[in-house]
Amino acid sequence: MSTFQAPKGTYDLIPPKSGVTLAVREAIAAPLKNSGYGYIETPGFENVELFSRGVGESTDIVSKEMYAFETKGGTKLALRPEGTASVLRAALQANLHKLGNLPVKLWYSGSYYRYERPQAGRYRHFSQVGAEAIGAEDPALDAELIILADQAYRSLGLRQFRILLNSLGDKECRPVYRDALQGFLRALDLDEDTRRRIEINPLRILDDKRDAVQKQLAGAPMLRDYLCDACKAYHEEVRELLTAAGVTYEDDEKLVRGLDYYTRTTFEFVHDGLGSQSAVGGGGRYDGLSEMIGGPALPSVGWALGVDRTVLALEAEGIELELPATTSVFAVPLGEEARRVLFALVTELRRAGVAADFSYGGKGLKGAMKSANRSGARYTLVAGERDLAEGVVQLKDMESGEQTPVALVDAVNAIRERLA
Ligand code: HAM
Repeated sequence: MSTFQAPKGTYDLIPPKSGVTLAVREAIAAPLKNSGYGYIETPGFENVELFSRGVGESTDIVSKEMYAFETKGGTKLALRPEGTASVLRAALQANLHKLGNLPVKLWYSGSYYRYERPQAGRYRHFSQVGAEAIGAEDPALDAELIILADQAYRSLGLRQFRILLNSLGDKECRPVYRDALQGFLRALDLDEDTRRRIEINPLRILDDKRDAVQKQLAGAPMLRDYLCDACKAYHEEVRELLTAAGVTYEDDEKLVRGLDYYTRTTFEFVHDGLGSQSAVGGGGRYDGLSEMIGGPALPSVGWALGVDRTVLALEAEGIELELPATTSVFAVPLGEEARRVLFALVTELRRAGVAADFSYGGKGLKGAMKSANRSGARYTLVAGERDLAEGVVQLKDMESGEQTPVALVDAVNAIRERLA
């Protein structure tokens, strides 16, 4: 293994592509910032029980994929595999739910870690932007979140995504359904592992991708037929609000999701250009999570969108984001005196908010002009002894190739005017 190889399942973000990732994060965050969500940041690791209780012992995320470790002091921690449990923990710790202003609406952006089998679109270190609305049971809040995610994807120009929608019922109706499903599953011809799963997480079996399993699932009881009246009415209202907002979705009664905390509304954003790792985002309501981690009853809803997969979705659709130029002006000094003068000018330009860069390392004119080209700058500033003697610098328009002298004392203003 080369010393310079990033760990398996991880990759580095490198310019210029890293600019796309930043732009994606900003595009997802923008509708949230515009809708009353405040920014929250939590640690990259938490006490391991937060996730085992919150996300669920029976999930793959906790039982197989968590980076759990013991510190030298004997504390059991885990790198966060997801953001919801952490955000709720932080809100409870800060007593945000007691400030009389529910729902508490929060957004976040960060790195998450899952020890998964790496493949295209599936990494051991990945990045999400997420949103959580804590402490209110209101179908309009569920709809708001789905509408905002749809808006974010559309603002990036994405079109080939679909929204899958389901209701998982609540603590009244889901146990009744679970019993019925377990009864049905126990009578099937299934392997050891799957039989064990019947007892701990039977709903996930509906999601089993194997043909031999799917064939036997024909005729399985479906949750839709077991939803209580309250859950049905709630779900109907979410659907109506989405339709009224012009957001298209597909009812998917097999959508289960891989985390245990969901109740009622669940949804996933899938992109059709991504192959098997097609989920670009997902979320839902988690009315019982607060109590599961030792807090008061706080019905909540949220989502997280995968930044890595959203970038892949852009590539799949051939979308090139218009990124702002990283450098507008590149300065090329010829000689020692020009070096001092242009360095001062670049500093001044930067203070005036103009993106400017400088030819370092004492390059000759040819090498320096190459750097200017590579920088993508719209203008190059060139100055030699004779220019300085005349009190000017040469401003070269890199698009037209045209070069004009501008007075040094007026250079900052002249450049700003041209860039405006
Ligand atoms: P999740 O479905 O596990 O939900 O993850 C959300 C998104 O993160 C996925 O749709 C995917 O785009 C991305 N993602 C997950 N795992 C990986 C991976 N190994 N590599 C690359 N991308 C990945 C949650 O995490 C919930 N906390 C969402 C939520 C918020 N529910 C309520 N509030």
